[in-house]
Amino acid sequence: MKRVITYGTFDLLHYGHINLLKRAKALGDYLIVALSTDEFNWNEKHKKCYFPYEVRKQLLEAIRYVDLVIPEESWEQKVTDAKEYHVDTFVIGDDWTGKFDFLKDQGVEVVYLPRTPEVSTTQIKEDLHQ
Ligand code: CTP
Repeated sequence: MKRVITYGTFDLLHYGHINLLKRAKALGDYLIVALSTDEFNWNEKHKKCYFPYEVRKQLLEAIRYVDLVIPEESWEQKVTDAKEYHVDTFVIGDDWTGKFDFLKDQGVEVVYLPRTPEVSTTQIKEDLHQ
């Protein structure tokens, strides 16, 4: 069983997120999503979520590609998550290219997938605001 993990906020779930999750799951057999908590988003990413953590979690759990949702509460947890969940592959969009290469030292494969063009939560919020 090959275990894959990805990290993100996944607020106002959109097709760019679904594309990412579909390709992430295709890299293995079991997909874990570490979902940024509201506190982590606010304190570390300076983002205010529209949907609270529990709602974002429920939405992700309803997606066929997602097997498990865990909270992302710190930048440092990736190394401990990799051990605790026996992660084979770490995957994330290519807006993060190179940022998590240190996980290779833990024996984890690191994959950066091309982002789906022209959609993001920030863009949706801006477009609706106009
Ligand atoms: N993602 C993607 N394609 C997009 C948007 C997001 O592949 N068009 C990926 C990101 O690279 C990340 C995951 O989806 O691996 C979760 O991204 P997240 O930051 O939650 O979504 P964004 O839409 O990028 O949100 P924001 O605009 O707030 O940064």
